[in-house]
Amino acid sequence: MTSDLKLTPQEIALLEGAEGPGVQRAMEIVVTLGRIYGAPDLVPVGHVQIAGVSYKNLGDAGVAFLHEWAEEGARVRVPTTLNPAGMEMDRWQEMGFDPAFAQPQIDAIMAFVKMGVKPTLSCTPYLFPDDAPARGEHLAWAESSAVVWANSVVGAYTNREGGPSALAAAIVGRTARYGYHLPENRLATHIVDIRCPVRTIADFGALSYMVGKRVGAGVPWFADLADWLPPLPNDFTQGGDAGDRLKTLGAGLAAYGAVALYHVAGYTPEARDQGEALIRPNAQRIVIDSLDEGYAIMDADPDVTEIDLVTIGCPHASLSELRYIAQRLQGQKLATRLWVTTGRITRARAEQAGWVQIIEEAGGEVVADTCAVVAPVRSLGVRTMATNAGKMANYAPMHSGVKMRFGDIDRCLDAAITGRWK
Ligand code: F3S
Repeated sequence: MTSDLKLTPQEIALLEGAEGPGVQRAMEIVVTLGRIYGAPDLVPVGHVQIAGVSYKNLGDAGVAFLHEWAEEGARVRVPTTLNPAGMEMDRWQEMGFDPAFAQPQIDAIMAFVKMGVKPTLSCTPYLFPDDAPARGEHLAWAESSAVVWANSVVGAYTNREGGPSALAAAIVGRTARYGYHLPENRLATHIVDIRCPVRTIADFGALSYMVGKRVGAGVPWFADLADWLPPLPNDFTQGGDAGDRLKTLGAGLAAYGAVALYHVAGYTPEARDQGEALIRPNAQRIVIDSLDEGYAIMDADPDVTEIDLVTIGCPHASLSELRYIAQRLQGQKLATRLWVTTGRITRARAEQAGWVQIIEEAGGEVVADTCAVVAPVRSLGVRTMATNAGKMANYAPMHSGVKMRFGDIDRCLDAAITGRWK
């Protein structure tokens, strides 16, 4: 589709190169997308999240492209944060990463920093006090799990951006107004009725598979999921049971389908305000009466009992998850490697509380900046993994060729303590 995209005089000037080739290139990307998707105009964005940061995804061509863009004078003009990289930036040597991977990864981050991007290196910007989005705010976010969170849990507006399009939006401070920036595209396409218990984070992961597969890129309306959720807090930066469940639900819906927005009746902000007016008249109904199908898919290698790496924190662990893991591991000694992956901002807060020290005294690693999908875990000798996260259960076998066990957090921590999946 093409459109008569209306640009302001200032936007036309940027497109014609008034602020140099780096900004011009960014404006060309934003305008081209606007024309392809039939946008009426551009909308200012309040925050940008960039994905595709790992050298594993970028390769040498991607790193060179970033440096070229930075050399052209491109600088972000709104707060912009980064997704996880392929390694922890301060401890990659002691963690066993190859310098041939580490050096280009460092080069890539330097290019982003030169452009003014904050190297938060996390997929959960919404857990950080300075970056959490506001209801009604327009964003350009490129991490699919964070996109679902922003649209659904917060009631902000963002499409699923790609890496270059998010960076372009940050450089010009705008994105094209189409897709989820428009109220008419935020209506539910499917009604989901749940007829079975959904209690643990792993249950929410299994549910995400079953719904994601059925709705694809649609917008699910969960008619009765609020029955299984604690009250929604005002401040998610402390973590909490509701946020930890919704974090895994959104990540899995985005990974197993291409969901960017869902509503929970009487619970998420738009559903609370607008009620069933948010449901399309022709919405299809889906009934979930068991989570067994989800568990069977995610617990993909039931013959595997020896676990090389247990990984928790996909999306990156919240403060409440770190607290829970510390409580469980107090005084324990682990038999196998445990990565609790999180953002460095969250880790610093957990360190102040003493939780990181407890986990590391048990032999676990609270790993910042990366995760077991974007890090080259095979090169660290990992062949078998266990997780409680739906998205990780899907992506790690696909991206790193590992075998996977999936279950709730207590089962995962027991596997870390014993080295075996029981
Ligand atoms: Fe985040 Fe990695 Fe999962 S980027 S959502 S922890 S796959």
